[in-house]
Amino acid sequence: MKLTRQTLIFISVLVTLTCQNQATTESTADIIVPKISEWQVTVVNGLVADKNLYVHCRSKEDDLGERNLTSEESFTWGFRQNIIHTTLFWCYMSKHDVHAKLNVFWDDVILFHRCGWKTCVWIAKDDGVYLRDFATGDDLISTKWEVGL
Ligand SMILES: *[C@@H]1O[C@H](CO)[C@@H](O)[C@H](O)[C@H]1NC(C)=O
Repeated sequence: MKLTRQTLIFISVLVTLTCQNQATTESTADIIVPKISEWQVTVVNGLVADKNLYVHCRSKEDDLGERNLTSEESFTWGFRQNIIHTTLFWCYMSKHDVHAKLNVFWDDVILFHRCGWKTCVWIAKDDGVYLRDFATGDDLISTKWEVGL
């Protein structure tokens, strides 16, 4: 069969309609389990006053840009976890002459519990980067600073 322009348009409309159907199915699932796909990540500068925290967070698709957080300042972004659950965000952080590179969101039930199934709160402190445990309110050390930038 010779693929005319009209045939191609027809196929692409079909594909679009099929995808819309899947999206509808997905949002029905969301109504049943609403907390699984809506997420936030927060990065907090918990360094002692007047210490700058440099943060650069990304996923494969999104570059959230470079920013400098002053003490107590935080930065939050939200997203929907993708259907095949491969969403991954990571951050490079640094202060003075030390740095850390860590994943801040990935598909992991233990992480989801720590995040209260809603918001993952990462806090940069003087000795490393911590994840807040939603259930207990404790900050759990995740990564120590490494020397160098
Ligand atoms: C963050 O601070 C560093 C070091 O002072 C500076 O080089 C950089 O341009 C700043 N970036 C932003 C986005 O403010």
